[in-house]
Amino acid sequence: MSSLADKRILLGVSGGIAAYKSADLVRRLQDRGANVRVVMTAGAQEFVRPLTFQALSGNPVHTDLLDPAAEAAMGHIELAKWADFILVAPASASVMARLAAGMADDLLSTLCLASEAPLVLAPAMNQAMWRHPATQANARTLQARGATLLGPAAGSQACGDVGPGRMLEPLDIVDQLIATQLPAQVLAGKKVAITAGPTREALDPVRYLSNHSSGKMGFAIASAAARAGAEVTLIAGPVRLDTPAGVHRVDVVSTTEMLAAAEKAADSCDIFISAAAVVDFRPAVVAEQKIKKQDGNDADVLKLVKNPDIVATIAARTHKRPFVVGFAAETENVIAHAQGKLARKQLDMIVANDVSDPEGGFNSDRNQVVVIDHSGQQPLPAGLKTELAAQLIEMIAKQAFTSH
Ligand code: PMT
Repeated sequence: MSSLADKRILLGVSGGIAAYKSADLVRRLQDRGANVRVVMTAGAQEFVRPLTFQALSGNPVHTDLLDPAAEAAMGHIELAKWADFILVAPASASVMARLAAGMADDLLSTLCLASEAPLVLAPAMNQAMWRHPATQANARTLQARGATLLGPAAGSQACGDVGPGRMLEPLDIVDQLIATQLPAQVLAGKKVAITAGPTREALDPVRYLSNHSSGKMGFAIASAAARAGAEVTLIAGPVRLDTPAGVHRVDVVSTTEMLAAAEKAADSCDIFISAAAVVDFRPAVVAEQKIKKQDGNDADVLKLVKNPDIVATIAARTHKRPFVVGFAAETENVIAHAQGKLARKQLDMIVANDVSDPEGGFNSDRNQVVVIDHSGQQPLPAGLKTELAAQLIEMIAKQAFTSH
């Protein structure tokens, strides 16, 4: 797996209870080979003493913009130039607001403004503060400028609330940093629509037809596309996953609902990626009441009709046709079947996915895929869906904007 070997990371620690986790984060970054220097805001120093970070990082901790002694050792402009990237963890609501506004009223905000290094934020705040439209707008502003947001996670919070706003665990931050490898903003200014998860077709008020898709692959792609600068619409079937940062999510249940959302998103998107496991058939009639086990009806309880093919419908557009990428979930003759779908559905690219492999496919965190287009095929090394998603986004962006 790739690492952070010799990466120079400027870790900004802002005020919040999650600041204590950043001490561990220093160690985790160093474990992966990074050289870490720490900048603390005044608020952060109320939670953890600079000495802790100095001892862990092995470097002096920077706290003041106007400290002549610190400036003589390594001035703030020098520090801004030193960094390969700046990681702010925790990134409080206040820090996000000040960075979004372009302020330079303390050392951390000044460094962020003065540095050309990529900026990565791990937000941490109360769930209501995270959900607040002002914070959401700040998050979008920062992402539109190229910042990467890792998290926040959802769960119980120090204040007793439950919801999104917890800083990711240090190991998750490091894993995601490595997985993303701070992608270039290959999709800046582009719109991407992605379908993810299963669809669900009701048989009666209590039963349905569906499949084992967890949505992990599609959500990872949505997250990677957002980190690459795209405006992302994620059309999600019924799954239990948090919405990736900076992504607009549209929840659907049935195939018909997914098709309607896809058609709407396709009107304005540049790229359409169909990672959803769409149920191919639905009951001809949805029973109004629970179907009873009565004698005589067991032979023809289920009459099915074909569902529309969403990705083929989008690919068949003659007006406002985006670059269209499908997936092919196969259990045998993977490449041949995927190539057949690429041609039949008139796609620009297809991601062949061997779902018979217990190490990948449905509901796993890992996957192994081969990317096929009209000029050839390229297998990607098996890896985490988050890692593969970042690679897929780079390949899709390259193909979409050089050949389309
Ligand atoms: O969600 P996870 O648990 O992370 O699992 C990921 C995955 C295995 C679901 C994903 O990687 C994947 O392979 N998705 C495609 C699943 C699928 O339905 O494949 P398919 O070969 O049946 O369909 C081919 C393509 O047509 C797909 O892009 C599919 O989204 C699309 N399709 C299929 C049927 C239909 N009615 N409408 C469609 O748009």
